[in-house]
Amino acid sequence: MEYKLLDGKAESAAIRAEIRQEVEQILKNGGRRPSLTAILVGDNPASKTYVANKEKACADAGFTSEVKRLSAETTEEELLQIIRNINADSGIDGLIVQLPLPKHIDENKVIATIVPEKDVDGFHPVSAGKMMLGQDTFLPATPMGIMTLLERNRIETKGKSCVVLGRSNIVGRPMANLLSRKGYPGDCTVTMCHSRTKDIAKYTREADIIVAAIGIPFFVKEDMVKEGAVIIDVGINSIEDPTRKSGYRLVGDVDFERVAPKCSYITPVPGGVGPMTIASLLQNTLKAYKNRK
Ligand code: GUN
Repeated sequence: MEYKLLDGKAESAAIRAEIRQEVEQILKNGGRRPSLTAILVGDNPASKTYVANKEKACADAGFTSEVKRLSAETTEEELLQIIRNINADSGIDGLIVQLPLPKHIDENKVIATIVPEKDVDGFHPVSAGKMMLGQDTFLPATPMGIMTLLERNRIETKGKSCVVLGRSNIVGRPMANLLSRKGYPGDCTVTMCHSRTKDIAKYTREADIIVAAIGIPFFVKEDMVKEGAVIIDVGINSIEDPTRKSGYRLVGDVDFERVAPKCSYITPVPGGVGPMTIASLLQNTLKAYKNRK
């Protein structure tokens, strides 16, 4: 089958250009720039890269942004106090705390301390609850970006059977919720599979749409995929590759080379879902800014 690449890099660039233009208009009218603060605790290499990418995207869009880089030894109470200060800072519209956090810090407590008005990651219980109820709120950036990618490529979702691999609070769970919502791009019949699912292939083989978010390189193989399926690969796995100068390369959760020829649409890694996550974060930050006016 002739497959089409879902070009997240291009869609993200288009969305970010629209946001940049809107910011320019705001500034012309005498408004201030939207502002995002990111908190990074410790030195997880992947997290450092993600936060640096977010910082650059903010600058490109004309947002003010600040990254608070804290040592891995930061105590939970110190972190909570920094969050409370940002909550009270009227110059800051959005706040994200990059996950994962060091083990001695309770992630749930940290997320719950962010005021919902600034929760542009959509991880706060209030945001998650509103999402589940279908109310207006900040949606988690990765599932939101995937919905946008489906929408902007006019991919039919109504009545489709969709399998979500993974049940994390950040991707799998909100993804299943959004795809099963009423209206476009939703109306799917969703099955969530996870590490305790028996015979995952039984489900994926029947799926019109597969969203893979489990963090295992090449997990989805060609014999697990139906002809003509839509494949969304959320995985960002670093594997050794001696042919590269860096010694490694990024691969998804899908065995792209073998799976792609069976698909109607598939996202590449890198250049698929990752850039869409960043576009969604900027959209949420702009929304937080507008909500305050
Ligand atoms: N870790 C992995 N994905 C995300 C995300 O979207 N936001 C934050 N804050 N941390 C993450």
